[in-house]
Amino acid sequence: MASRTILVGAQWGDEGKGKIIDVLSESHNVIVRSQGGNNAGHTVEVGPEKFILHLIPSGILRKGTTCIIGNGTVIDPVALGKELSMLHGRGIRTQGRLFISERAHLVAPYHPAIDKSREKSAAKRKIGTTGRGIGPTYGDKIARVGLRMHELRNPAGLRAALKKRIGEANELCRFNGWEGVSLDVVKDYTAAAAVLRPYIADTVSLLHKLVEKDRDILFEGAQGTFLDIDFGTYPYVTSSNTTSGGACTGSGLPPHHVTKVVGVMKAYTTRVGEGPLPSDSSELADLLHGMGREFGATTGRARRCGWFDAVLTGFARRVNGIDDLAVTNIDGLDTFAAVKVCTGYRLDGKKQDTPPADIGDFARCQPVYKTFKGWRRDTSGCKSWRSLPPAARDYLKAIADLTGARLAIVSVGPKREQTLFL
Ligand code: GDP
Ligand code: IMO
Ligand code: MG
Repeated sequence: MASRTILVGAQWGDEGKGKIIDVLSESHNVIVRSQGGNNAGHTVEVGPEKFILHLIPSGILRKGTTCIIGNGTVIDPVALGKELSMLHGRGIRTQGRLFISERAHLVAPYHPAIDKSREKSAAKRKIGTTGRGIGPTYGDKIARVGLRMHELRNPAGLRAALKKRIGEANELCRFNGWEGVSLDVVKDYTAAAAVLRPYIADTVSLLHKLVEKDRDILFEGAQGTFLDIDFGTYPYVTSSNTTSGGACTGSGLPPHHVTKVVGVMKAYTTRVGEGPLPSDSSELADLLHGMGREFGATTGRARRCGWFDAVLTGFARRVNGIDDLAVTNIDGLDTFAAVKVCTGYRLDGKKQDTPPADIGDFARCQPVYKTFKGWRRDTSGCKSWRSLPPAARDYLKAIADLTGARLAIVSVGPKREQTLFL
C-alpha cells in the first residue's frame, strides 16, 4: 500500500522538519506543502551544501520528486521568485516538477506592510511575527477579500486589482497612522507573476491522479503544533492550521487516504517570537547560542530555549494523531551532566497535564521536572541506535513514552547520514 504520510512539528516550529522531510523524500515521490508561507525556514544539508527553503517543499532537492504548493498556503510571488532563482543558480531544476495551486492566496505588497505596522503599534503586546504578511493575508482569505494565484494568469486584471487594493490598504494605513505602500511595487509583482505563471496548476486534480497511480506522498508541515491558530498558544501563534488536519484542507486530500502521521520534535524545546515558554532555560540557551546554534532560519533571531516539555508533546500527539516520532538535535544535550524533562505543570497549586487555553493561565504554569542522567559523550558520529550512549537511549525512550508515540527516527546532526532509524 502506498504511503500518505503527514509530517508535523510537535513544538513551536523549527523542530528539524526540513531535515527529516529530506530524509523521508528518498522513499516518497511526491512532497506537498499545505499551509503557511515564507514565514517557514526549513534547513537541509546535503553534503557540503546547505539549503534554506521557505515556500518550496524540501523534497525538491531529491531528483525525480514532484513537489506541490497546495491551496492552503499563502504565496509572496516576489519571495517565491527569488527562491526559484536560488535553486536554479545551484543547479536544481524545477520546471515540470513544481506545481503551485491556483487556489493558494497571494501575499500582496500591503500584507507585510500591515503586519509590520501592527507589530510596531502593538509594542509590548506584539506577537513577534516574521513580518512576512502571513496574518493579514489569511485575514483577507477568511474575510473573502483576498487575491488568489489564478489571478496571475491575467496580467492586466492583476495589475488593476493590485492598484485598487493598494489604494484601499493605504486608506487603512493613513487611518491608523501607518506607513503605506507605493504603487511602484506593482511592477515587481507583475514581473514575478510572469515567472510563476507556468507553475500554476490545478493541484487538486494532480494530487488525485498521483493518488490513483499509488504514489508515496509526504505532506511537509510548516511551523508547529503550538503555533496552530486553533490549538496553539493563542494569540502568540501563526494564522494557519499547522496540525495534521491542515494537510487535508490545504491540499484536497481526503482524510481517509492518510496512512501515517509523523511528529518531529527536538530533544529540547525552542521558540522564536513572543509568548510563554514554561520550561525556559537560560543555561540551555547560553550553551546552544554559544555553539552558534538556534538562530532562526528565516529571520536570524535567537531562538529561546527550554527543556523538553512532555505536556506539550503529549497534547501534540493527541491533536495530530502522531504515530511515529522523529527526535532531532539529541546532540545538543551531549555536554550536560543532568538533563531535565517537564512532565507536568502546576497552576495555582493544582496539577495541570494539558496546556490551558487561556494564555494568562498558560503563562502562570510552573513546570514540574524529572531529571535524567546525562551521557556526556558526543553522539553526532553515532551510526546506529545501539551505538548511542545508554543514558541517551534511556532519555529518548522516556520522552517518546511520555509523548505516547513510537520512536522511529533519531537525528544526531544536520546531515542526511546523521540519522538513525529504529
Ligand atoms: P524546521 O523549520 O523544522 O525545518 O527547522 P529549521 O531548519 O528551522 O531548524 C532546525 C535546525 O536544526 C537547522 O539548522 C537544522 O540544520 C538543524 N538540525 C536538524 N536536525 C539536527 C540534529 O539532529 N542535530 C543538529 N546539530 N542540528 C540539526
Ligand atoms: P518553520 O516552518 C518557528 C512564529 C513567529 C511568531 C509567530 C507568528 O520554520 O518551523 P507569523 O509570521 O507566522 O505571523 O508569526 O509564529 N513562526 C515560526 N516560528 N518556525 C516557523 O516556521 C515559524 N513560522 C512562524 O516567530 O512567533
Ligand atoms: Mg524553521
